[in-house]
Amino acid sequence: MPRIEVTVDDTTYADDVEPRTLLVHYLRDTLGLTGTNIGCDTSNCGACTVLVDGRSAKSCTMLAVQADGREIRTIQGVANGEWHPIQAAFHTEHGLQCGYCTPGMIMSSIDLLEQNPDPTDDEIREGIEGNLCRCTGYQNIVKAVRTAATNMRG
Ligand code: FES
Ligand code: FES
Repeated sequence: MPRIEVTVDDTTYADDVEPRTLLVHYLRDTLGLTGTNIGCDTSNCGACTVLVDGRSAKSCTMLAVQADGREIRTIQGVANGEWHPIQAAFHTEHGLQCGYCTPGMIMSSIDLLEQNPDPTDDEIREGIEGNLCRCTGYQNIVKAVRTAATNMRG
């Protein structure tokens, strides 16, 4: 089995993995980081979104071996003693309902706001278009990302 070394949420792990192991399964089953969700088997829902070297990626479309030597950030590494401004805005703007999609939404939003700190609503919708919310809660999610962008710009 190939051996990989991956930094996840600032901790470096070295593990032997089956070549066919998906990154999301490595995170959840090997590392126990179950904050990253699996919501489909079609690479559509975005519940499994993490940051790979700072850019959002669906961890169900990537093999664990492809993460070798890379830096992964999951929802569990986002809060730093206090909520990330995007998490706080999801709370204040009621951007989550069941919350299943929320970790992926937040990871995509982090990437979006790092690339574009002042997005229009259309740009926010485009930024999270790979993330499905089955509760159809998009209005408040867009509002939450807009509020977070405002707060992060100070
Ligand atoms: S679990 Fe990865 S896109 Fe649905
Ligand atoms: S809050 Fe329910 S799927 Fe997103």
